Amino acid sequence: MGIWMTGGILANANNTLETAHLFIDNGRIARIVKGDTAPDTTGHEVIDASGKLVSAGLIDMHVHLREPGFEHKETIATGTASAARGGFTTIACMPNTRPVIDTADTVRYVLDKAEAAGRSRVLPYGCITKNELGRELTDFAALKKAGVIGYTDDGVGVQSAQMMKDAMALAKSIGLPIIAHCEDNTLVEGAPVSEGEFAKKHGLKGIPNESEAIHVGRDILLAEATGVHYHVCHVSTEMSVRLIRHGKQIGVNVTSEVCPHHLLLSDEDIPGLDANWKMNPPLRTPRDVQAVIEGLEDGTIDMIVTDHAPHSAEEKAKGMQLAPFGIVGFETAFPLLYTKFVKTGRWTLRFLLDKMTVKPAEVFGLPWGTVEEGAEADLTVIDLDTEKEVDPAKFLSKSHNTPFIGWKLQGWPVLTMVAGKVVWAD
Ligand code: DOR
Ligand code: ZN
Ligand code: ZN
Repeated sequence: MGIWMTGGILANANNTLETAHLFIDNGRIARIVKGDTAPDTTGHEVIDASGKLVSAGLIDMHVHLREPGFEHKETIATGTASAARGGFTTIACMPNTRPVIDTADTVRYVLDKAEAAGRSRVLPYGCITKNELGRELTDFAALKKAGVIGYTDDGVGVQSAQMMKDAMALAKSIGLPIIAHCEDNTLVEGAPVSEGEFAKKHGLKGIPNESEAIHVGRDILLAEATGVHYHVCHVSTEMSVRLIRHGKQIGVNVTSEVCPHHLLLSDEDIPGLDANWKMNPPLRTPRDVQAVIEGLEDGTIDMIVTDHAPHSAEEKAKGMQLAPFGIVGFETAFPLLYTKFVKTGRWTLRFLLDKMTVKPAEVFGLPWGTVEEGAEADLTVIDLDTEKEVDPAKFLSKSHNTPFIGWKLQGWPVLTMVAGKVVWAD
């Protein structure tokens, strides 16, 4: 017995919408029947997707699942449930857990937990340096063998240029990318928010834009020298966009990502000393917001990621200065971007989907991201019409730290399928 997913709407590459019926067999899309006429579904399971968007499963290449070590914030079970509810069929998790993911054993631990959870696919990154301390490289070959898809010290920047260059040379020889959290610590020193109006008003130390861009510039030069695939995390400044644009122009193998919050919010939107608005990189100026939007639109920035970063209510209650950086992202990402960029007419639906499916798959060489016959049936069904308010109390994530509380949005995922298996349904 197979599954017929009937009456859904496909967003085609040429920006047209088209009704289609998908036959799913053995975990794959076996047949796509286009047009309004329903096929004979006798003898098969039927999922009625009438009037709903059917997309390739969303892919998020930057998330924090917190396990092992920080299970009070999130577990692999709750994180992947939250991801599945957000429409994500594949997520790539950061290694800043406790212990960090810097050995083959911890990689296997994450993969085993993810498999047991049975929701979204989980692709782990391994650390660049042991314990993310920036002193000694990890065993890249052993980590690759255990299943990592790239190397990163996300959460902190690699401070030493020589260390980064060695890491890139090694990653290049092994054939995996370096994924960089760009931050020069000497320019930051305990600042909780971006340099700008908000910091001034509240007497807080500011994080300058150069603290990100200096690493971006340095690393593009090192990527040029080593030839590695270098991927910039959570781009948030106009300076970084400019540097990446130039790097691409001169043929450096550099790619990058941006988060929904950096596309939608500036420091001027922060309502007060509420740490649900604290993340790293911080919310920058409206000019930076425009620059990252334009960077995404002209291809300088390749994809959208959430940087899903759960923290408990107690931790976030410590206030703007002391609370940890980060906000959750899975369960609001698509509705936010659909409502604020597609419904408003700035982007086509296809543009948004490309940045959350086709592009991440292409950049990281993943076999998912498109709806076509023969492809694995990783699918997300989305209700584009019903408006709902963001209510963190309803999140499947263990944590509720979001600045988007109460936003009225459309574009809510209603069913998520991985390899032909429903892993979440409303
Ligand atoms: O906001 C952030 N949260 N930025 C990071 O770089 C780390 C992450 C976390 O682990 O909480
Ligand atoms: Zn980061
Ligand atoms: Zn991160």
